[in-house]
This record gives sequence, C-alpha cells and structure tokens, in this order.
Amino acid sequence: QLVSSCADEGWELRLHERVDSTNAEALRSLSGGTQSPVVVLAESQTAGRGRRGRDWVSPFAENLYYSLVFRLENGAAQLEGLSLVVGLAVLQSLRELGVSSAGLKWPNDILVNGKKIAGILLELTGDPADVCHVVVGIGINANMRATDEAIDQPWTSVALELGALCDRTALVTVLNRRLGECLRLHREKGFSALRAEWEANHLWQGCSAVLTSGAQCIEGRVLGIDNQGALRLETNDGERHYSGGELSLRLR
Ligand code: ATP
Ligand code: BTN
Repeated sequence: QLVSSCADEGWELRLHERVDSTNAEALRSLSGGTQSPVVVLAESQTAGRGRRGRDWVSPFAENLYYSLVFRLENGAAQLEGLSLVVGLAVLQSLRELGVSSAGLKWPNDILVNGKKIAGILLELTGDPADVCHVVVGIGINANMRATDEAIDQPWTSVALELGALCDRTALVTVLNRRLGECLRLHREKGFSALRAEWEANHLWQGCSAVLTSGAQCIEGRVLGIDNQGALRLETNDGERHYSGGELSLRLR
C-alpha cells in the first residue's frame, strides 16, 4: 500500500529502519542521479533535525519521519509559499484522520490546543538560479505517548488526540495524496490559490504577537498573510510584511 500510494503520485519510495535524518538521507539520494521525486521514510532517526539546528525527537516505530525530495522545475520561484503549502497539506491529512481541532501557526507549525503535533523542515540544495532540489521534511507525532521524551515544549500526537492507535500506513497514504494535490495546485496556480484556505485555518489571526528574527523583536497584531505567504503584521509603523526561514512568532 505504501509503495502504490507513492507510485500514484509518481514518487519512488525508500524505506529505512534507522537513519540519521530522513532529510539528510533524501539529500544523499540525489547523488545517485535519480530523476523522479523520492520519498524517504524511516522507523527512527538518530539525528532528526528541526529548524535553526534544533533536534527533532524521533523514537523508533512510533511516529512518521517523512522526506520528499524533488527538483524545482520552475526554479526557486517555486519556493514562494512552499512551506505554508506543506503545512496546509499536513493539516488536511490530520483533519481527515479525525484530529479536528488542529490548526496552523505561521510559518509552518501544526498545533492542537497549543501543543505541537507536527513539524516541517524545508532544505534547498543546488543553485537557486539554475538546477536545484528541495527536500520537504515532515515529522508527525503518530503514536508517541511516553511522558519521558525530552521535549522542552508542549506536544501531542494523533493517538493522544483520538484516544486510539494511529495507523501509520493510513497516515502516509493520506499525506501523499494531500501533499500531491497541494503541490500540484501550488505549482500550477501559485501560492495565492491556497492563501484563503491557509488563512482560514490560522490559529493566531487577529492576535497580538511578537515576531523574532535573531536579536530583533517586532510587536504587532497578526493581520494574516499575503499572496507570497509573508506574514502581515500591523505594527506601530503601519502594516509590514515579513518572510524568511529564521523568523519565529510568539503570542504576546
Ligand atoms: P517556532 O515557533 O519558531 O517554529 P519552535 O519552538 O516550534 O519554533 P522549531 O525549531 O520549529 O521550534 O521546532 C523544534 C522544536 O520542537 C524543538 O526545539 C523541541 O522543542 C520541539 N520538538 C522536538 N521534537 C518534537 C516532537 N517529536 N514533537 C513535538 N515537538 C518536538
Ligand atoms: C520543526 O518544527 O522544527 C521541524 C521539524 C521537522 C522534523 C522532520 S522529521 C522528518 C524530517 N527529517 C528531519 O531530520 N527533520 C524532518
């Protein structure tokens, strides 16, 4: 079922027991000269990575550690809004499995009642002006229940939310389909085609928040996002738009 659900999207599947990081493994797979998109799935990661060099806790056989690597046929322009599009596909997948109260936090966190259920890490390789590839790394907490996992912020899992074990094969099957649909729409129509749905699911719409970028903090009210996926913030100096991988949003 896993193989055929990837094949339906034209993606090749590579399954591993244990890797350092599925993103790292997906990047290595490029050196083999593969042409079609590749999905790397692992039962565990010894060095799962999050944004800004943080660790992603990845116990064996409990969760989903998934990376899809593909060539950017339209160059780096195709990156615009991509991480938000992936977040939307993950959200749709969780909802389809019954996690109805999941929502989005800009740029690409998926939360349930303030607790993180999934994370997304995009990595780019190659020349953005010429041939480049992107790795879309997705971690979804499927069956993680242990309270002794060393995670320094609130988290939850599909199993904790539903009160029943999560079938990880079903989760991958839904994710492949939702991701395939969202990526197709994004490639053909651009981010603006998905903006309204993204905004409708943004948990912090209208909230007062603080945006940090390195040592800089910007306070304002969250107005939403623009057609490029940048955050629209109402600040003391008027409406400002922010984008970039190192930005982090907190409630005030
Ligand atoms: P931001 O709000 O800027 O996105 P963040 O606090 O969510 O920041 P990220 O870098 O996006 O941080 O995610 C990495 C963080 O996620 C880790 O520092 C850890 O706190 C948390 N984390 C690690 N593993 C897991 C996991 N399996 N489930 C939920 N959260 C995790
Ligand atoms: C974050 O919220 O900081 C992003 C976490 C991304 C975790 C996933 S798990 C699969 C893929 N492989 C990695 O090493 N990271 C991503």
